[in-house]
Amino acid sequence: MEELVFVILFLLLGLCLSLLVVPRLFAKREPKNLPPGTMGWPVCGETLSFLKPHRSSSMGRFLQKRCSRYGKVFKSHLYGSPAIVSCDPVLNLFVLQNEEKLFRASYPKPVLDVVGKLSLHAVSGELHKKLRNIAVSFITASKSNPLFLLFVEKLSLSIMDSWKEQKQISFCEETKKFTLYLMVKQLLSIEPEEPLAFKILEDFETYMKGFQTLPSKYPWDSLCKSFEGYGTTATLIALIVYFLANAPNVFGRLKEEHHAIRKNKEDGESLNWEDFQKMEFTNNVIHEATRCGNVAKFVPRKALQDVVFKDYFIPSGWYVFPLFTAVHLDPTLHENPSEFNPWRWTDYKAMSKTVMPFGGGPRLCPGAELVKVEISFFLHHLVLNYRWKIKADDFPVAYPYVEFSRGLVLDIEPTEGTYSGK
Ligand code: HEM
Repeated sequence: MEELVFVILFLLLGLCLSLLVVPRLFAKREPKNLPPGTMGWPVCGETLSFLKPHRSSSMGRFLQKRCSRYGKVFKSHLYGSPAIVSCDPVLNLFVLQNEEKLFRASYPKPVLDVVGKLSLHAVSGELHKKLRNIAVSFITASKSNPLFLLFVEKLSLSIMDSWKEQKQISFCEETKKFTLYLMVKQLLSIEPEEPLAFKILEDFETYMKGFQTLPSKYPWDSLCKSFEGYGTTATLIALIVYFLANAPNVFGRLKEEHHAIRKNKEDGESLNWEDFQKMEFTNNVIHEATRCGNVAKFVPRKALQDVVFKDYFIPSGWYVFPLFTAVHLDPTLHENPSEFNPWRWTDYKAMSKTVMPFGGGPRLCPGAELVKVEISFFLHHLVLNYRWKIKADDFPVAYPYVEFSRGLVLDIEPTEGTYSGK
């Protein structure tokens, strides 16, 4: 018996040693001038600590520890590959702007298998340019089309109308309904009240539920899993409502802006493109929520060749992760970064250099402007018709895709004497 225990211990020791030593023997010698950092455990590297959930309005311990130890650019080993993590806004922009020249979007195969070979996230080169042009013209045409704007407003009002008899709502469910109906209308021109719409929504929800049960271990899954905007827009609306509940001064100023717009309109008159352009503070609120809430934590890229940036060397074939969250919450770039303060966006030019919630370069999100119109119209009626409190201690968590663990349950109360839209 003792002999057997000895043999097992001996074998285990041998296994541990080979796991530690063999990869190092076969590893290529690391080039000089690599950014500082650690590669973690053999095989799994530092992936587990990188994926540890944290408040989406914070950097999380992984980034905090490494940024303070190594600075804004460091090496690591993530998702089975050596990687450079960048929390430097200049390097992030450089990476995104050099798409297809020095770097290429690199979403993992299981995700691409599901979203399809012709998803914009999957294609590159000429095909990407062609498909992107189609998507951009479609989205641009929708965003200022009066019929589409009317639909966004009607839908916002009908959803809020359904809350009239309720004291409590699960807000994440409501925003998902809102963005799903918008998508069905946009892509299939089907009205929510049509029987076919109901059937499609039912089938789509079943499909989405199945899709959501796929293992979601990559932060960029949230971008892909949302079929270009459905989930991300819903999350952003929930984030805004969450931040507003905790910032009464912002809520007050927002309400003032929407009262002023409503005052200049006939009773029951619809919103239009010109009204949207007057919603400056609303725009700042949306931008600030993207900075504090971090819907997309980062995007994955791979270096196509050896790249030298400042003093750093980025080897060909390595992952490069431009980390948006870290830049959005960097105290050297934003005063009191954890404070939800839309007034900081008064200097839009300076802010937009460091806040990139929609990515950048040739893969910049084509839905960014559309999102702002949809959310602004929704907020218009929300702040004029309701006030709310967060029911339980709920907050947004980066899993790394952002979710409210309790679905953001709100105590709601209709406000008196405001515009009902009827
Ligand atoms: C809050 C809402 C949204 C956020 C935070 C968001 C964020 C992003 C980000 C960061 C990227 C860049 C991905 C990369 O560089 O690899 C992206 C790409 C993309 N987004 Fe969005 N997005 C949102 C809403 C939307 C909406 C509403 C649509 C469509 C109507 C949309 C369509 C797309 C498409 C098609 C791409 C791929 C672009 C390409 O590869 O050329 N997004 N989005």
